[in-house]
Amino acid sequence: MANLFFIPQYIISGENALQMSAEHLTSFGRKALIVTDDMMVKLGNVKKLTDILEDSNISYVVYSGINGEPTHSMIDEGVEIYKNQGCDFLIGIGGGSPIDSMKAIGAVSTNGGSICDYMGKKIEHTLPPTCAIPTTAGTGSEATKVSIITNTNTGVKMLLSDPKLMATLAIVDPIFTLTAPPAVTAATGVDALTHAIEAYTSKKAFSMSDIYALSAIQRIFGNIYEAYSNGSNIDARREMSIAALEAGIAFSNASVTIVHGMSRPIGALFHVPHGLSNAMLLNVCLDFLKQGAVERLCQLGQAIGVFRSGMTQEEGAEAFVVATKSLLRTLNIQTPEEFGIQKEEFFSQIPKMAEDALISGSPLNTRRTPSKDDIMELYKKLWEKSE
Ligand SMILES: NC(=O)c1ccc[n+]([C@@H]2O[C@H](COP(=O)([O-])OP(=O)(O)OC[C@H]3O[C@@H](n4cnc5c(N)ncnc54)[C@H](O)[C@@H]3O)[C@@H](O)[C@H]2O)c1
Ligand SMILES: [Fe+2]
Repeated sequence: MANLFFIPQYIISGENALQMSAEHLTSFGRKALIVTDDMMVKLGNVKKLTDILEDSNISYVVYSGINGEPTHSMIDEGVEIYKNQGCDFLIGIGGGSPIDSMKAIGAVSTNGGSICDYMGKKIEHTLPPTCAIPTTAGTGSEATKVSIITNTNTGVKMLLSDPKLMATLAIVDPIFTLTAPPAVTAATGVDALTHAIEAYTSKKAFSMSDIYALSAIQRIFGNIYEAYSNGSNIDARREMSIAALEAGIAFSNASVTIVHGMSRPIGALFHVPHGLSNAMLLNVCLDFLKQGAVERLCQLGQAIGVFRSGMTQEEGAEAFVVATKSLLRTLNIQTPEEFGIQKEEFFSQIPKMAEDALISGSPLNTRRTPSKDDIMELYKKLWEKSE
């Protein structure tokens, strides 16, 4: 079977990658819409970018309204600004939220309508040039064909997936991630780990996606705890930035599976940040996932060095599961209850969450296909395990 593999047209990675980007940005257009959040303005990251644009005689408008995970009204507002201000390309700087928003604004500004109509649809017209500058080492959105926007009318976190949503240029500069606080570093890092594990165990995995998934997993096991506990370690930050990029490439080509499918409804209904809901779920989903992917998880055990000679495949897979669970413990991931979710409300939403998870399509990429009942059981287990 043949497979198509997508990555951004250009990737500039490493310290001071932003300084190398002027030539590309100049070729993108005359006026940029910078899509970001207030934190990026406060940290001075937007200023670093606008300095480069000014030096290159590129005009810009800053839209810093992506405060929280993106909703359809944030996208409407961004499209309005893009059009009214006569912009001709886009730059997203921040975590996955501003980058996803930038892609969605780009899509609507050239394809019309409302972002709420885009779920499950192909995007017809090419977006204007897009540049993604991540400041978390997590989503990999800088190198994925995905954008995730919540429709607050329906309470659904819409998964938009189309090759046209791939950024033209990704600038992966680990310096931007140095200021991420420990809880953000942990949650976003586990998001990247989940992308890589899900891509490697997806039914759609293939040789090219495997290369990126394996490399990402090795880097994350080697560096996430250091980046979390000693955020100023630039070496650990660099490795995590590259890992997030690799994991994004892996899942954008091979798809995510059950964890992400179940994670989006928790985010949409209880406003749990994406990385955190994945981190909560990874723990309980690993055992389910293992039953359909023993050989693949055993290979991951080999990749991180917990497979010992003489082990069976089953033992190798279990060694990987145990290592992942102990890594998660070191990162002090909040439970749903600690996050402030009420048990009764959580349980009453389980049927809707299971339905929405299945509708997204992601769970069906799991090697052991889950039923609605399986998913409902896993949601219950998530609560019980953390009690
Ligand atoms: N497009 C994709 O492929 C893809 C993949 C996974 C997740 N997502 C989506 O991405 C969004 C989550 O993105 P995220 O996890 O990167 O979080 P985020 O962009 O929502 O940022 C989380 C918080 O961290 C802050 N922050 C970001 N970088 C920082 C830094 N360097 N220093 C200090 N604070 C910083 C932000 O201001 C924000 O308050 C979700 O909506 C999720 O669904 C998209
Ligand atoms: Fe994710």
